[in-house]
Amino acid sequence: MSLNVWKYILIILTLFGLIFLLPNITTEETWKYHIVSAIFKVQNRLQATNLSGTLQTFRNNHTFCSHLGKPLSHKEELEERKLLNSITWPQVPSGSEPLNLSQTSDPAHSLFTIVLSKKDQRWYVGDQLEVLVHLHDFQGRPKRYGGDFLLARLHSPKYKAGVAGQVLDHKNGLYSARFPLLWEGSAQVEVMMVHSSEAVAVLRRLREKLPHRVFFVSLFRRGLISETTACDTCLPQDQGPLCNYTDLRSGEPWYCYKPKKLDCDTRLDHARAGYLKNITTNSESLLFQSGVNIKVPIHANTTNTITVLQSRKENGGKKTDPVKLATSGYYYQDSWRPLGDVAMRKFDTPAAISQCLADKVVYMYGDSTVRQWYEYLVTVLPEMKEFNLHTPKKAGPLMAVDDNHNIVLNYRCHGPPIMYTTIMANELRYIANELDGLTGGPNTVVAISIWAHFSPFPGEVYIRRLRHIRTAVVRLLERAPGTVVVVRTGNPRALDRDVSLNHSDWFTLQLDIMLRAMFKGLNVMLLDAWQMCVAHHKPHDVHPPKVIVKNMVNMLLSYACRERTRKTA
Ligand SMILES: *[C@@H]1O[C@H](CO)[C@@H](O)[C@H](O)[C@H]1NC(C)=O
Ligand SMILES: *[C@@H]1O[C@H](CO)[C@@H](O)[C@H](O)[C@H]1NC(C)=O
Ligand SMILES: *[C@@H]1O[C@H](CO)[C@@H](O)[C@H](O)[C@H]1NC(C)=O
Ligand SMILES: *[C@@H]1O[C@H](CO)[C@@H](O)[C@H](O)[C@H]1NC(C)=O
Ligand SMILES: *[C@@H]1O[C@H](CO)[C@@H](O)[C@H](O)[C@H]1NC(C)=O
Ligand SMILES: *[C@@H]1O[C@H](CO)[C@@H](O)[C@H](O)[C@H]1NC(C)=O
Ligand SMILES: *[C@@H]1O[C@H](CO)[C@@H](O)[C@H](O)[C@H]1NC(C)=O
Ligand SMILES: *[C@@H]1O[C@H](CO)[C@@H](O)[C@H](O)[C@H]1NC(C)=O
Repeated sequence: MSLNVWKYILIILTLFGLIFLLPNITTEETWKYHIVSAIFKVQNRLQATNLSGTLQTFRNNHTFCSHLGKPLSHKEELEERKLLNSITWPQVPSGSEPLNLSQTSDPAHSLFTIVLSKKDQRWYVGDQLEVLVHLHDFQGRPKRYGGDFLLARLHSPKYKAGVAGQVLDHKNGLYSARFPLLWEGSAQVEVMMVHSSEAVAVLRRLREKLPHRVFFVSLFRRGLISETTACDTCLPQDQGPLCNYTDLRSGEPWYCYKPKKLDCDTRLDHARAGYLKNITTNSESLLFQSGVNIKVPIHANTTNTITVLQSRKENGGKKTDPVKLATSGYYYQDSWRPLGDVAMRKFDTPAAISQCLADKVVYMYGDSTVRQWYEYLVTVLPEMKEFNLHTPKKAGPLMAVDDNHNIVLNYRCHGPPIMYTTIMANELRYIANELDGLTGGPNTVVAISIWAHFSPFPGEVYIRRLRHIRTAVVRLLERAPGTVVVVRTGNPRALDRDVSLNHSDWFTLQLDIMLRAMFKGLNVMLLDAWQMCVAHHKPHDVHPPKVIVKNMVNMLLSYACRERTRKTA
């Protein structure tokens, strides 16, 4: 009891000190973030035993968390179970603990071989290339089980061409990577081990046992009194009274601990306060070493190069190649060539882009990866004027207008658990609600990208969010069938140990499988950012480089301005 009292006296004194001594600091966003985060660290250290302790046991309690959200209908529950089943990943056989690095997958000892085509040892455009990957451990012994996370790519630097491979786990230490052969000439195979199966097992444990490894806080303020408390999608109720910020329309749950002195309606902002520390054991840490077992290339046993010859005969695409079906497109001369229904058009000049977007309002909702599209359009269109809305550059909302062509661009970030910067609480909006506020129609373009901030969370949190967005998209397309809706998938990013533990590509890939399933069959374009980044020669980056962004925006434009039989305006 007395400890608690002292703790709050200390926090309040700290806050008062900051308010009185540094009156100007709160205007500086970054400073504010550091202060909030420092306070939270103090508070967190004081509460360490109880907060992290209870969080660790409680936060895995699915019944507990769903209890705080809207209950699922039977249909929703079935869908959730089906989606979660669709992301099952081969498990490391139990009994292989205690973990010894020497027995885990080592890309340096692993190798791949090109499977020679049976007929005449030649490859032709239209064929499929297969490589067999043999995973070995640090002592060079073949692995006997699957579950490693590999990425593969076939590329020709000479033509700036590349395509992502489809990787198949044979669950015995062998993997096949398959590529459609889509261009002529010399081409090289590249295989990389993103994580060993043992590392994936650690990531799985983190997602299951510590799904809430990111801490969120809100600052509450009235007059000279400020308090900062912890917030999340679900919080243990025995730690004190809660403020319930659950969205009334969508039912998206969000809670903060109620400040001691202030009311719930004095919440001022929302920020990420930090990550749970020390979440892996020393031997687990060894599985996440840059240059050793994170995103390290696997070499070819003999050669990684093949020569692809001109197509034998124009076989009218008789057999449908499953690899080609799973391939959404490829690069040639750094231009993305989609293999799906939407044909890529050229938008090489600002005039072509303006012509396509003329008389349109573009709404971009989500994380920074769709803000990149906004920034790209503002940069390349000379007549686009950005308004100064006096909002943070990262969080927005942002708006730009081209008066001449009657184009409006809008960017707005998605709601909690958005974690890139401090955001005013009144600017927190859910995409589903924003979509419900749109009239829509053929002059409305909607682009949605929501993935990066969900990677530390359990699948259920993402499914719930996507379900609300999908319902709103369906409503939008029903009232305004001509509305253009594009959903961007996630993409691989640069990984080191720390980033892996919170935001590994493995998490992203799992979310991605569910995203694709949930928007399948809707009249929306799924923009395959995953393959667009895997296929490209530039290093992986959560914010893909401009050359890739350009191709993504060109896909968006190609879809928005495709030929379509216009029914009614
Ligand atoms: C605070 O800001 C005001 C106006 O911007 C300025 O005049 C004043 O010197 C600042 N105070 C400090 C302590 O920096
Ligand atoms: C931590 O929580 C337990 C019960 O969960 C309680 O008995 C204990 O007093 C708490 N400790 C502190 C320091 O608040
Ligand atoms: C989960 O939470 C519910 C509701 O608080 C509780 O009844 C149940 O015992 C918990 N389950 C576990 C495994 O902790
Ligand atoms: C791990 O394997 C190496 C090589 O086989 C061995 O020297 C070492 O003792 C093993 N460590 C443990 C903890 O089993
Ligand atoms: C929070 O509010 C929502 C919506 O009003 C409600 O359904 C939910 O039960 C509330 N949560 C708690 C813990 O009271
Ligand atoms: C980290 O966790 C381990 C147990 O997993 C513990 O022994 C160690 O003291 C912790 N280190 C810190 C700095 O908290
Ligand atoms: C790798 O190449 C060597 C020598 O060419 C050969 O003996 C060996 O069988 C090859 N390994 C695999 C897994 O294909
Ligand atoms: C990720 O998590 C680790 C360990 O929990 C933490 O130390 C680190 O700061 C986090 N960093 C990022 C960039 O995600």
